[in-house]
Amino acid sequence: MTLFGHNLTDSAQLRPLEPWQAEEFAQYVDRVRPHLAPWLPWAHFVKDTESARQFLQRYADTQSQDGGRIFGIWVDGTMEGGALFRIFDVPAGVCEMGVWLSPDAQGKGLVTLAARHLADWALKVRGMHRIEWRVTPSNTRSIAVAKRLGMRHEGTLREVFAFNGVRQDLEIWALLAGDAA
Ligand SMILES: CC(C)(COP(=O)(O)OP(=O)(O)OC[C@H]1O[C@@H](n2cnc3c(N)ncnc32)[C@H](O)[C@@H]1OP(=O)(O)O)[C@@H](O)C(=O)NCCC(=O)NCCS
Repeated sequence: MTLFGHNLTDSAQLRPLEPWQAEEFAQYVDRVRPHLAPWLPWAHFVKDTESARQFLQRYADTQSQDGGRIFGIWVDGTMEGGALFRIFDVPAGVCEMGVWLSPDAQGKGLVTLAARHLADWALKVRGMHRIEWRVTPSNTRSIAVAKRLGMRHEGTLREVFAFNGVRQDLEIWALLAGDAA
């Protein structure tokens, strides 16, 4: 039984991911860590139930102030991915999304469906003006999602952050409320 969820397909559901699900989230990250770790900093520090709880609690705290939010994607009741608003700045009208999936859950459009739903909510219900997507240039699957969402590549921040021992570029993609109309 689930309290709140959005059906992405007959078998896949997008639901809030909350601190009480820390154990399930920690086990999920452990299972798919090699797939996520090249791209997602939190896949390095979510290592056990306690670090997962702290990570989810930070999102619960920011959500309570109408800031960031985090969601999981379950397929046939098993956690297989997620999506988040890393930033949700209502006064500025700007938010930033992030996504992930298990390797076996890729190729079915689940993250595009989830991101579209969250983008629609942000733009149409919450009146946000701009949704950002930050991605390293070598992450072709993530860039393909940004394109499917109708985002435009606005520019590249060169060597903007150190990750996995290398200074990485970050592409900024974005969708504006006017683009989606
Ligand atoms: C980024 C990531 C979530 C993309 O996953 P994905 O499965 O490629 O993306 P989607 O769920 O949108 O699925 C798209 C694929 O499903 C197919 N598809 C099937 N039905 C579809 C539908 N209804 N709508 C859209 N695509 C559909 C598409 O053709 C595409 O297939 P292709 O890869 O063969 O071209 C995944 O690669 C991942 O978790 N990577 C590691 C973490 C990461 O990099 N996160 C992003 C950091 S910026």
